[in-house]
Amino acid sequence: MDVFEAVRTVLAVREYADRPVSDETLGRVLEAGRLTGSASNKQPWHFVVVRDRETLAQIGAAEPYAPYVAQASVAIVVAVDRTPFAVSDASRAIQSMLLTAWADGVGGNWAGWLTSQGMEPARALLGIPANLDLLAILPFGYPTASVGQGKKKRKPLAEIAHRERWGAPYA
Ligand SMILES: Cc1cc2nc3c(=O)[nH]c(=O)nc-3n(C[C@H](O)[C@H](O)[C@H](O)COP(=O)(O)O)c2cc1C
Repeated sequence: MDVFEAVRTVLAVREYADRPVSDETLGRVLEAGRLTGSASNKQPWHFVVVRDRETLAQIGAAEPYAPYVAQASVAIVVAVDRTPFAVSDASRAIQSMLLTAWADGVGGNWAGWLTSQGMEPARALLGIPANLDLLAILPFGYPTASVGQGKKKRKPLAEIAHRERWGAPYA
């Protein structure tokens, strides 16, 4: 799958088949995160990989915005240093990981946010130190239904892009 095709078709996947994501695919996903560029090359991210079913169930039960973590084959919990560019840097790494998984046929999603109350139980469960922020939980698994096909609910380009100067519609 080429890069544009992956971007065009990837969607948030919240239902997962009972089929494990291989260590090979998971390794590629992590490598995609690790290789992502960051401001001043600081790489202010930490990835906690969770495969244990009981832990996934506990995270799903504790995270109000993402109960489906409980059904995932694996989840990557992303923590960040408390530094100025960490959220931008880690968001970039997250997108690298989601697209790499998608190119291997594995669906995922970004769940949670820095201030999400649902994140604190995950911190406790995984022993993530207090000096880091939890940014996201990324559950991964094979989609139960065929998703993608590029059918997305997005604003038209004319609404968000300008040609040469503000106010001149691009399209
Ligand atoms: C910063 C961020 C936070 C998100 N938080 C959640 C969340 O807590 N739970 C959830 O189910 N989806 C979450 N999402 C996924 C969005 O709902 C999803 O990307 C959006 O609705 C577009 O979905 P689509 O690509 O399938 O059209 C989040 C996405 C982002 C980028």
